Amino acid sequence: MSISRTTPLRVAVLASGRGSNLQALIDAIEAGQVQARIVAVISNKKEAVALERARKHGIKDLFVDPKPFAGRPDSREAYDRSLLEVLQQHETELVLLAGYMKIVTTVLVNAYANRMMNIHPSLLPAFPGLEVQKKAIDWGCKLAGCTVHFVTEGVDEGPIIIQAAVPILDADTPEALAARILVQEHKIYPRAVQLFAEGRLGVDGRRVFIDSAKPDGEVIVSAV
Ligand code: GAR
Repeated sequence: MSISRTTPLRVAVLASGRGSNLQALIDAIEAGQVQARIVAVISNKKEAVALERARKHGIKDLFVDPKPFAGRPDSREAYDRSLLEVLQQHETELVLLAGYMKIVTTVLVNAYANRMMNIHPSLLPAFPGLEVQKKAIDWGCKLAGCTVHFVTEGVDEGPIIIQAAVPILDADTPEALAARILVQEHKIYPRAVQLFAEGRLGVDGRRVFIDSAKPDGEVIVSAV
């Protein structure tokens, strides 16, 4: 079932760093593969390359400084309240975390329940957190990959929308593996956004269904 929208889905992207996933989404939108409009790119880092990428494409870029909130017992929540205001001002329908290296609180999670996605460079629930490619290699895993999931309170948790797997090669370094995973990230994140834009995602507890009430999780295993 595909629901066509009369207006493009209004998406905001939160990013802290280089913004390659943001770029992949911009490219997919410009190529007509994703029916969405990025209404704002927001960062907690003034120098984030993601903000530059937004500017280059005529997308509104916003730095929201965490410093004024530091030291308060509710600093994270207060920061997220100010983000929420910005998101609402832009009539955001879907929030994307794309290399957003700040923990989001219930302020955002509740306001955007099943309307906020994250991408993570592991096959969750294995290896949440940081340095996950190294952890997968050190563990002796034969497969690694990436996950797009809806955001819940836990870090790198939440109902899984799409995963892509890549093999771990004997000679892999964390950097080489990360690069191979990133290629897949750039495919599955835009794809997840398009599925959302088409109204094709259903959530039941931890499970996300595509097009049906029955399990239909997508697992893409890429060729090396
Ligand atoms: C990506 O690999 C993304 O999966 C990861 O940060 C990188 C951001 O790259 N996110 C996480 O680890 C979230 N826990 P990008 O800025 O080039 O999109």
